[in-house]
Amino acid sequence: MSDLHNRKVYYPNEEFSKNARIGSMEEYKKLQDEATNDYEGFWSRHAKDKIDWIEPFTNTLDESNFPFVKWFEGGKLNVSAQCIDRHLDTRGDKTAILFEGDRGDVQRISYKELHVRVNKFANLLKEDFGVKKGDRVVIYMPMIPEAAFAMLACARIGAIHSIVFGGFSSEALKDRIEDAKAKVVITADGAYRKEKPYLLKPVVDAAITRTSPVEKVLVVERNNEKVDWVDGRDFSYHKLVENKSDECEPEVMDSEDPLFLLYTSGSTGKPKGVQHNQAGYILWAQMTMEWVFDVKEQDVFWCTADVGWITGHTYIVYGPLAMGATTVMFEGVITHPDAGRPWKMVQDHKINQFYTAPTAIRVLHKMGADEPLKYDMSTLKVLGTVGEPIDPPAWKWYYEKVGSSKCAIVDTYWQTETGGHVISPLPGATPIKPACATLPVPGIMAEIIDEEGNTPELGEKGLLCITRPWPSMIRGVWGDPDRFKKAYFGDVKKNGKPVYFTGDGAIYDKDGYITVTGRTDDVINVSGHRMGTAEVEAAILKHDNVAEVAVVGKPHDLKGEGIFAYVVLKCEEVCKEAQEINTIIKSEIGNIALCDDIVFCPGLPKTRSGKIMRRILRSLAKGEEITQDISTLEDPSVVACIEEKVKN
Ligand code: WT7
Repeated sequence: MSDLHNRKVYYPNEEFSKNARIGSMEEYKKLQDEATNDYEGFWSRHAKDKIDWIEPFTNTLDESNFPFVKWFEGGKLNVSAQCIDRHLDTRGDKTAILFEGDRGDVQRISYKELHVRVNKFANLLKEDFGVKKGDRVVIYMPMIPEAAFAMLACARIGAIHSIVFGGFSSEALKDRIEDAKAKVVITADGAYRKEKPYLLKPVVDAAITRTSPVEKVLVVERNNEKVDWVDGRDFSYHKLVENKSDECEPEVMDSEDPLFLLYTSGSTGKPKGVQHNQAGYILWAQMTMEWVFDVKEQDVFWCTADVGWITGHTYIVYGPLAMGATTVMFEGVITHPDAGRPWKMVQDHKINQFYTAPTAIRVLHKMGADEPLKYDMSTLKVLGTVGEPIDPPAWKWYYEKVGSSKCAIVDTYWQTETGGHVISPLPGATPIKPACATLPVPGIMAEIIDEEGNTPELGEKGLLCITRPWPSMIRGVWGDPDRFKKAYFGDVKKNGKPVYFTGDGAIYDKDGYITVTGRTDDVINVSGHRMGTAEVEAAILKHDNVAEVAVVGKPHDLKGEGIFAYVVLKCEEVCKEAQEINTIIKSEIGNIALCDDIVFCPGLPKTRSGKIMRRILRSLAKGEEITQDISTLEDPSVVACIEEKVKN
């Protein structure tokens, strides 16, 4: 990163800045200073201003039991009312959800219509399924409007939803259902991908075993393909919802009642159920929509994520709807029928803000560098990226070809645990540099420090931390308070007190801009999604002939990182193992965790205490020369052996 300090600076578009909510660095600094000088005052002011409280809060922040913090105690609200009811008078006929199906079918759902659909859905869950406040509901759905209705219906009645990404296998779904003890699963028969129907319901069937906590399954009919049906357990959404009342009084929720769980990978063990609560989460979802995307009343906003990930939660459903925006939801694949699909959608729907992942940008660039030029994309104002560091060539293409060198690019850094953006440019204020997340969003006390809380030397890598709790901070790991403490507040201290560590490394440049360099732990970032090496290893170990395995990430042109597995077999004859290993991964986790490389080796590089030296394995995967001292290994000769195998 030698050129880190000399990157080209791109200044905000002047016309844009004039009308932006935060239109200059002076305004940015003013907000950040306000937060620094009066942290609680800052948050209290915004919480009063932005949230439609049923009862006002009495205490802004209680840190007495840190890291178990409480925001806006005493406050009562309902997140579905914040997202729907409060807009009915002023924008009832405005499109809330603009849905485009895989085959080009379009639905426009107004705020009034959304109100009806969510209320009926909520009444169904209450009356037919007996879902009550605090119950967990797993949602395993394709990208169709009913996925958003399901989320908001849960929020309306105070049930805790836990969405499982539709690409996860039945085993992965089963683990998440059981960990959350969900009594209801909402799914669909299937959906469409590249104009062909595919199925989801069979995955749910396989995930519900005899001992499952699931009592009832609701099936939304999307493609009407034939699926198995368990009488008394499975119910048709369309049949049940028809005769439901379209009025459902929103449940009065405390600020700190749980809103949802979302499972994500850690560096060890099983996926963690990241818990987000009501008020703090919805406040930051809404504020970042306003500040980072600067969405205006007439704008159309499109985030290409899947609702199965946090990006889909915060920036397809909760954030846009809380601010009363029009949010686009897309069922299909962005490269189908060709790499012009997203640009055609920008033209057709007059999209103003487009938000996607670097991996998608790289694929679109590679498959159709000139596709953007074929469409009228003059409506675009802000382009966003999220999920992984973006590489400068992809950034440049995005800026020049997609944004016609006039749109701000907001490189938004955040995580499932942060609920919303924490480091990002503001499009009307921040001068941007390619592939740089720039500065903390006002109100977020993000810092690069070392384990003792000291700022590293300029240009030195440090640990990216957030030194004060923020409203949309993770509130817990479901059912495991110890893991919550250890995973996030165990490694770094500032002034002797534990602080939140993101798990990422980062570097300051001479202007104080933050460049995120990637995970410092054993988490791989595949196409912008987190994959725990431990999970992939556990899946591979299920193969009868596998004695030992170590999984590392390896740079990949399109995916960012690919998965590289070193496998030691019990019986050394390698024949079908590589294929079988990927079959196991597919059934244990899903296609997203398939290995790009599998190398069979006689042993793994271990220290004398038995710890696998992953650093060596990462270097070997990249084809790098091993320069570090390997004499302390239990068997140093194994390194040369592996090197040989990797080369072949
Ligand atoms: C991890 C979080 C937040 C939604 C998508 C992924 C990486 C995220 C950036 C960025 C560099 C980024 C980090 C982070 N990451 N955004 N703009 N620049 N790295 O959510 O699955 O919780 O993963 O994604 O490594 O820790 P997630």
